[in-house]
Amino acid sequence: MRLFVGIPLADAVACELGNVIARLREGESTRPGSRLRWTAPDSWHITLQFLGNATPEQLECLKARLGEVRAAAVPVKLGELGCFDRAGVFFADVIVTPELAALERSVVAATGPCGFAAEIRPFHPHITLARAKGHGRGTELRALESKIRSQPAFTRFTATEFVLYESHLAAGGAHYEARMRMALAWPPDPMAAANH
Ligand code: 2AM
Repeated sequence: MRLFVGIPLADAVACELGNVIARLREGESTRPGSRLRWTAPDSWHITLQFLGNATPEQLECLKARLGEVRAAAVPVKLGELGCFDRAGVFFADVIVTPELAALERSVVAATGPCGFAAEIRPFHPHITLARAKGHGRGTELRALESKIRSQPAFTRFTATEFVLYESHLAAGGAHYEARMRMALAWPPDPMAAANH
């Protein structure tokens, strides 16, 4: 099975993002041969760590270790829309708050003993909105970027859980199944605060 750990997007923010995407996609159907594949709004998430293929034993290990993670609730604010050119990905940036960075570190530390290595690339949280494939993908992404007249502002939300997902690959796009949900401390533990 193919696993990753992430934070689901709050419904209200997914709705805002959906409206922005709908405007960008206006008139799209008239452009033949588009190489853009849009992701489904109900799949939108912020990846904390991509784990890849895992055995059933590793899944059990992950459930135990991730269940022990104690982290603060995470304020989440989406930033600008942009592209990873080489990967052919159109995304909404996510601002790195101290709580988000701390959760990412805790997740990576928790998964290590189950046999998963940290990413070499720096953590760049984002929400993938579309993928462009093939030779013309740069052109597709540029055309999309040129339609952004002003960067949208999104409502901030507080993530009170993170999720171990299984990714099911399919021709129409990946489907993500929540295998385990882990609560983030909210409100902050007053005893923990008193001990600092
Ligand atoms: P992406 O959205 O930028 O492609 C499930 O595939 C999630 O894990 C996606 O959010 C994906 O990021 C992320 N991910 C990170 N590294 C990956 C990899 N090597 N292969 C597939 N997905 C990866």
